[in-house]
Amino acid sequence: MIVSSYPSSRPRRNRKNPWSRDLLRENTLSVKDLIWPIFIQEGTNKATEVGSMPGVKRYTTDLAIECANQAFELGIPAIALFPQTPQNLKSDDGYEAVNPENLICKTVRAIKSAVPDIGIICDVALDPYTTHGQDGLIKNGYVDNDLTLEALINQAHIQVKAGCDIIAPSDMMDGRVGAIRNMLEEKQYHNIQIMSYAAKYASAFYGPFRNAVGSSNNLKLGKETYQMDPANSDEAIRETMMDINEGADSIIVKPGMPYLDIINRVSRELNFPTFAYQVSGEYSMIHAAAANGWLDLERAMMESLLCFKRAGACGIWTYFAPMVAKKLQNQ
Ligand code: PBG
Repeated sequence: MIVSSYPSSRPRRNRKNPWSRDLLRENTLSVKDLIWPIFIQEGTNKATEVGSMPGVKRYTTDLAIECANQAFELGIPAIALFPQTPQNLKSDDGYEAVNPENLICKTVRAIKSAVPDIGIICDVALDPYTTHGQDGLIKNGYVDNDLTLEALINQAHIQVKAGCDIIAPSDMMDGRVGAIRNMLEEKQYHNIQIMSYAAKYASAFYGPFRNAVGSSNNLKLGKETYQMDPANSDEAIRETMMDINEGADSIIVKPGMPYLDIINRVSRELNFPTFAYQVSGEYSMIHAAAANGWLDLERAMMESLLCFKRAGACGIWTYFAPMVAKKLQNQ
């Protein structure tokens, strides 16, 4: 690299005027980078605030259609749906996850017919459906990998039948991407994408999400036996390579901000479409600081998202999506 020294080089020259800063900017954030995660609840015409996530609501299916419409109008390419399952439909084996008439499948069908041109992403994991709040099935006090795979294959199958475009397994069982890919090929769903949570860490930043889907009170044990250790980086590369090998079309690193180094390594070393998930705790943290007058909400939001692009992400899951999209429209 050739770098001249001061005063022949004065880096501030390029920064002096707004037009020059615009011209020399290396990365940009666009509405086309955004995936909007939306919480769904049973009933009609209800939008319920999620206490731990300012500005985020759980929507009934009819109102979720309006969200999808709004997202489409704003130019957001895809939405991701997460259900709050009523407690009486939860069970030890999470059977509701494979019920083709469950809340998620009903909502996917409704959105697909009302807003056919938006991408719909469905989460594959059992935690919204289990009484114990774990992502898989428990046998002898341990989340059993291979037993869980069967349930995940069936869960993915009913979601695809309902019309979802992208399957996003967030469960972190070994071999689930391959198992789901085999099922999709067998059943002739050649063009359904798998966006796998390849490097998902056992993180403290998921707290507000667990309130939103109603799994936090059920959850007694941690998820460390399947989600990754926050201390590990090389392992993220191995996990991602396995998912690519098994048939993933793109991968997710999660959480986002505390894991920018992982996003950078994965995207640069593997040259594979890499998405960042700015999780609930990151969203709520920025809001909480702004509510105290310690941060400027819009500036912190925009900066946090742009930094994912700089790190190498090709897109970002964020609860800020509609707010950012509106802001970008006005720029
Ligand atoms: C569950 C799942 C979680 C999130 C997405 N899918 C929580 C968890 O693993 O406990 C977290 C999302 C967020 O915090 O925004 N499979």
